[in-house]
Amino acid sequence: MILQSAAEGNMQNVQSDPPDLNLSLLVAHVKDLPPLPGIVMSAMEMTLDPDVSIRDLQILISKDQALSAKILKIVNSAMYALSREVSTVSHAVAVLGIRTVSSVIMAASVEGVFSRAKDLGTKLMSEHSWGAALAARTIARWVQYENLEEALVCGLMHDIGKPVMMMNCQARYTQIVSEIYKGNGDFHQSELLAFGFSHAHVGALLARKWNFPPQLAEAVGYHHDPLSAPSYQKLACIINLANLFMISMGIGFVKDKTLVLEKQPAAVHLKLSGSALSVLAADIEASIKTTASIRN
Ligand SMILES: [Fe+2]
Ligand SMILES: [Fe+2]
Repeated sequence: MILQSAAEGNMQNVQSDPPDLNLSLLVAHVKDLPPLPGIVMSAMEMTLDPDVSIRDLQILISKDQALSAKILKIVNSAMYALSREVSTVSHAVAVLGIRTVSSVIMAASVEGVFSRAKDLGTKLMSEHSWGAALAARTIARWVQYENLEEALVCGLMHDIGKPVMMMNCQARYTQIVSEIYKGNGDFHQSELLAFGFSHAHVGALLARKWNFPPQLAEAVGYHHDPLSAPSYQKLACIINLANLFMISMGIGFVKDKTLVLEKQPAAVHLKLSGSALSVLAADIEASIKTTASIRN
């Protein structure tokens, strides 16, 4: 996949490239992909080890106070509906399991990038991203996608390319943001016109750099064109639809309450009828309300 190659410094093109992606432009413009803290990388590697001890993971994570605090905040949000508060990382792993904690670690890393998105409106970005995360998990459950937590992380990071583009190309990107604020165009198309690549491509590049699972990188990369995803169409459709739910609910920069979700290619691909989408919308709204504390 091209985005993996780029992350590894290999400029070679391969068949599965999005047709509109100009890789040389992307690499030339986006020089500063935020690094994943070493401690997070080690913790994620540890969660993949079947013999890992909870204590080793706890010792590692507790070296980073900010990460520990963020993990505990996410774990204690209404999202996991725990009966009593979890106060240590080892307790979190025991209650939620290593796979879920691995997703929470990824979510905490993504949050770290949002906090740099000052010019984009940190609150709006956070609301849109957490809303899409919850929507993605709700849709994933409905369509029986095998890893709900993966869908959640993917929804959370689908637009992470936006703050990265803002940091790298501030003058031109600020112009795009102000046009979109005025109701002119959307991010994906405006970015493609201005740069030859979009925040979706940048997000996929970042997911690769961070060694996130390949399906997650692909779904982020194709979240505006999910049917073109070469290997993980189902996850890409879930993320596309989660984003469209946010647009139709008016959560984020781009709002369109007239959007007919039933007619969207991702909804058709996932075989979601109008009535299923109505039930999903109610479930998503309820879960956004109950987890409001996580974004503050
Ligand atoms: Fe997007
Ligand atoms: Fe979005």
